[in-house]
Amino acid sequence: MRTLQIAATSTLLLTTLLFTACSGESGNSNGASPATTSKPSSKKMMPDDPDLASLYTQSCFSCHGTGAGGAPRTGNSSEWQPRMEKGMDTLLDHTIDGFQGMPPLGMCMDCDEAQFTALIEFMSSGS
Ligand code: HEC
Repeated sequence: MRTLQIAATSTLLLTTLLFTACSGESGNSNGASPATTSKPSSKKMMPDDPDLASLYTQSCFSCHGTGAGGAPRTGNSSEWQPRMEKGMDTLLDHTIDGFQGMPPLGMCMDCDEAQFTALIEFMSSGS
């Protein structure tokens, strides 16, 4: 009787050990996968118009491309939504006069009002 019981116990122990070894391996391969998760914001967004694209790259992009200083990020509609609710006239005034962390003219000394409007529309939609 006793011999049988010991045999049964050691079989169980062996099975447990094998199982632990297997699940340990699969745990390792799983651990490597989260590194491949990509950021959705890494997509590069540029205005279609080349002139507007160069103005954007030289000025707005440095803050609005990255969110530096709390700037609403280009193409991030949830960050732009409360801004757009103020109306384009107010946003244009804030762009020209500056608004908290936003420098006057958005550091684009050569931009005219039509270009500012186009840049704001581009940044708020990402296209
Ligand atoms: C030096 C960094 C910087 C640059 C360059 C910049 N911005 Fe901004 N902008 C900000 C920050 C920071 C805010 C958020 C201000 C806040 O709400 O505190 C902002 C906010 C705005 C807003 C929203 C204002 C509001 O009333 O909510 C508009 C519109 C805007 N920027 C347009 C532009 C445009 C157009 C350009 C390029 C011509 C530009 N910005 C360049 C930093 C910048």
